[in-house]
Amino acid sequence: MMKDDIEKIVFTEEDIRAKVKSLGEVISRDYAHVPEGIFCIGILKGAAIFFTDLVRQISLPVQFDFMIASSYGDAMESSGTVRILKDLDYDIDGKHVVIVEDIIDSGTTMHYLLDYIRLRKAASVKLCAFLSKPSRRTVEVPIDYCGFEVPDEFLVGYGLDYAEKYRNLPYIGVLKREVYT
Ligand code: IMP
Ligand code: MG
Repeated sequence: MMKDDIEKIVFTEEDIRAKVKSLGEVISRDYAHVPEGIFCIGILKGAAIFFTDLVRQISLPVQFDFMIASSYGDAMESSGTVRILKDLDYDIDGKHVVIVEDIIDSGTTMHYLLDYIRLRKAASVKLCAFLSKPSRRTVEVPIDYCGFEVPDEFLVGYGLDYAEKYRNLPYIGVLKREVYT
């Protein structure tokens, strides 16, 4: 069973639901003056579940697009080199973009993606990350909407994986050491 690999639960389904709802409300309020709504870019695969929950808590029109970036492979630490495996399908010229990410760890991936997306002449670019590990940061990344700040522990569930596993856990937990050592 997946749950036998979990040391402790950090955020329950209830915690997650409440936080996603409040993030959606804040975003809806911040862009209330933009009648055409916003353009959300989900960073796959980690943000897939958070993305679909979040957009349903936003009361403005939301256009979707997704990118896939890879800096990890199956390792637990960012390799430092970011590759774009799937680019945007649409032109974001003049759009109000909100990037939706699962977690900002070293910041490497998002630092690269932010630079890349900012070159595309969007009207504005903001970042929404469900989790942030500030103590791990090696490059500064401004998070406009942050769900929770977490300590330096390896988390899984709610989209977060270890070697592509545990993404479908409905809560977020710490993986037992024996699973990866
Ligand atoms: P960064 O480039 O070091 O900021 O890494 C960001 C990416 O690493 C995230 O999009 C996640 O896919 C992955 N990641 C970072 N920390 C964790 C974790 O605790 N559990 C699972 N994935 C993580
Ligand atoms: Mg990952």
